[in-house]
Amino acid sequence: MTRTALITGGVSGIGAATAKLLKASGYNVVANFFGNDADADAFHGETGIPVRGWDVSNFDATQKAVAAVEKDFGAVDILVNNAGITQDCTLHKMSYAQWHSVIDVDLTGCFNMCRAVINGMRDRRFGRIVNVSSINALSGQFGQTNYAAAKAGVIGFTKSLAQESASRGITVNAIAPGYTDTGMVRAVPAKVLEGITAAVPVGRLAEPEEIARGVLFLVEDHAAFITGATLSINGGKYMA
Ligand code: CAA
Repeated sequence: MTRTALITGGVSGIGAATAKLLKASGYNVVANFFGNDADADAFHGETGIPVRGWDVSNFDATQKAVAAVEKDFGAVDILVNNAGITQDCTLHKMSYAQWHSVIDVDLTGCFNMCRAVINGMRDRRFGRIVNVSSINALSGQFGQTNYAAAKAGVIGFTKSLAQESASRGITVNAIAPGYTDTGMVRAVPAKVLEGITAAVPVGRLAEPEEIARGVLFLVEDHAAFITGATLSINGGKYMA
C-alpha cells in the first residue's frame, strides 16, 4: 500500500529534501508552500511533486486546504510539519509582530495542520507525524526568544499528542535539526554564522538531505514503536 505524505514548507530547504527523498522511497508526496510561488513552480517542474499553496498559520484556510488535498490525492497518512520562519531580534528590541508571526507559523501552524489530519488518522488507525523543531529549542539562542519558544513548544506538543495517539497506531515525533545549509540559515549574518559553524564538532553545516534521512526513518511503517521522541541531527553541536 502506498502511503501519502503531506509536507509543509515542502518546496525549499529541509522540506524539499524531505519531499524528494520520500518520493524516491515510494511514497505519494504533496508539498505545501506559502509566499514563495517561484520556488514552488520550479520545484514542481523539477520533481513532478504536486504543490499546494496556503498559510499554515491560518486555521480555516488550513482545514479547507487539507480537505482538498485529501480529496485530490487520498488520505494523509504522513504529515511532516516543516513550515517555519525566523524573525531574529534580541528581546529588548523585539516587536509584538516579530514575536507573534513566529509563534503563529512555527507553533500554531503545527496545531492547525495536526488538527486537520488527526481525526482521519485516528479513524484509520494509522498515522506518522513528524514535527520539525530545532537545536535552538534545546539550547536557546541569542536573538531567538520567539523561535526557541515556538520550537520548544513544538516538542511539548509532540510529546502530548504522542500520548493521545499511541493507542490509535499514530506516532508523533520531533526532529531537532542543527544549522543546515538552507536559505534560512544563509540569512544569518556571515560573521555570526562563521562563529556558529566553528562550534559544530563535525565542522560544517548539515546538508538538508541529512535531516530528511531522519524524517524518512521516523515515518516508515516499521517505526511503529518510536513515539514522543526528539531526534537531534546537529553534528554534535548540542548534546541533550
Ligand atoms: N552571545 C552573546 N553575545 C552576543 C552574541 C551571542 N551569541 N551575539 C551577539 N552578541 C553581542 C554582540 O557582541 C553585541 O555586544 P555589544 O553590545 O557589547 O557590542 C551585542 O550582543 C549586540 O549584538 P548584535 O550587534 O549582533 O545585535 P544585533 O541587534 O545587530 O543582532 C541578531 C542581533 C539579529 C540576533 C544577530 O546576532 C543574529 O542574527 N544572530 C543569529 C541568530 C541565529 O543563530 N539565528 C538562527 C537562524 S537559522 C535557524 O533558526 C534554523 C535553526 O533551527 C538552527
